[in-house]
Amino acid sequence: MLGSCAALVVVSVISYGTHGFETPKQNFTNVVESFGYPTEVHEVETEDGYLLNVFRVPYGQKSEAKQPNEYPVIINHGLMGSAENFIIGGPKKALPYVLADHGYDVWLCNARGTHHSRKHRTLDPDKDMAKFWRFSWHEIGVYDLPAVIDYVLNITQKSKVNFIGHSQGTTTFFVMGAERPEYNDKIGVMVGMAPSAFLGHLKDPSIRFFAPNYRYLQSLAESLQVYELIPKFLLSNEALRSISKILCEEDAPTRNICSNVLLAMAGYTPGQIDPDTITLIVSTGPGGASVYQALHYAQLVTTGRFIKYDWGSKENLKRYNSTKPPEYNFNNIKSPVALMYGESDIVVTKEDVEILATHLPNLVDFYKVPYESWSHMDFVWAKDLDKYVNKRLLRILKKFRE
Ligand SMILES: *[C@@H]1O[C@H](CO)[C@@H](O)[C@H](O)[C@H]1NC(C)=O
Ligand SMILES: *[C@@H]1O[C@H](CO)[C@@H](O)[C@H](O)[C@H]1NC(C)=O
Ligand SMILES: *[C@@H]1O[C@H](CO)[C@@H](O)[C@H](O)[C@H]1NC(C)=O
Repeated sequence: MLGSCAALVVVSVISYGTHGFETPKQNFTNVVESFGYPTEVHEVETEDGYLLNVFRVPYGQKSEAKQPNEYPVIINHGLMGSAENFIIGGPKKALPYVLADHGYDVWLCNARGTHHSRKHRTLDPDKDMAKFWRFSWHEIGVYDLPAVIDYVLNITQKSKVNFIGHSQGTTTFFVMGAERPEYNDKIGVMVGMAPSAFLGHLKDPSIRFFAPNYRYLQSLAESLQVYELIPKFLLSNEALRSISKILCEEDAPTRNICSNVLLAMAGYTPGQIDPDTITLIVSTGPGGASVYQALHYAQLVTTGRFIKYDWGSKENLKRYNSTKPPEYNFNNIKSPVALMYGESDIVVTKEDVEILATHLPNLVDFYKVPYESWSHMDFVWAKDLDKYVNKRLLRILKKFRE
């Protein structure tokens, strides 16, 4: 989420620097299919007109029936991430493969504003910037997730779906549960990895430094008309492109340094990252997001509360009938929720996850990964995912599937 944000900014510049906005050499479709798994891409429209690409792995490598598996599950990515984050560990480790091999029909969201879902029925993300990008993770929770859930339930003809979120992928789920309570009945179980709602104990020093200035940062971004993380003009900057190209290309001797800088910034655990996965991280690239998503997190860090976006007293009054933004109502989040966290996560800390646990009315599991230096992004690409996360996850999902 926020912690990885800075790093992913660098990853973005580097990965887009090497292939711009063109179709990357390695993407979800060709990587997953290269391992013998089927993929599909579905377009889902939200109530407010955003067009999302949802990826699907309907069944596993060894499936004889070649029919979608019986149990649908949705995977939802973090800030600056996308569905492609989750394929980095490869078969036997990464969730889409593991779940498809265990009888699940896997659906992966790409939130509005990620480069897979940078599309709207009427707004152009490059011309109507102020309008297109005026959303935070609030809107992802209120519009994107319900649209994807309804779409999946309709296609699969089921009444419930299991849900896995990482970081912002959990924040948006809690927003949905609080603001669209009717959707709780459509969830078998939600598994939240590095769950982010309370961030008052965040330890990342650079975020702590910038967060209290969110009002200033918002007016700065708006006056410069920089609404997108990472803005396109930066990605197309020739100098940056060539530097990143030289340093990070596949056969460049400096590639190891390049990868280490990126990953150190993302708070990875030495020993939990496989050197081979780095190529894939860089070449699939990060997702893209709106600046308001980062600013909304800055408000959570500063206040220590799970609140709606602070648009300033005048607009708050219009939106919320109150000059201060209200808190999300946890009492509405009735679906069963299982939480997983890492002891060395400096973004989503143990203290904050414990606070969250006391607010959830239907907490069914609370799990600290038994590996001392487990950090934020390890839930996505650690080499020991199978041992420390997947086993527990599969057990929980199985208990709650219909
Ligand atoms: C991946 O790239 C191929 C072309 O190499 C393209 O046909 C496909 O649609 C892309 N898939 C996604 C999910 O972007
Ligand atoms: C449900 O799916 C069918 C195709 O399977 C489609 O024709 C129909 O429009 C969908 N309904 C909704 C509400 O999305
Ligand atoms: C707005 O807030 C005031 C006082 O807090 C309350 O009396 C009023 O009923 C609220 N209006 C609406 C539309 O909720």
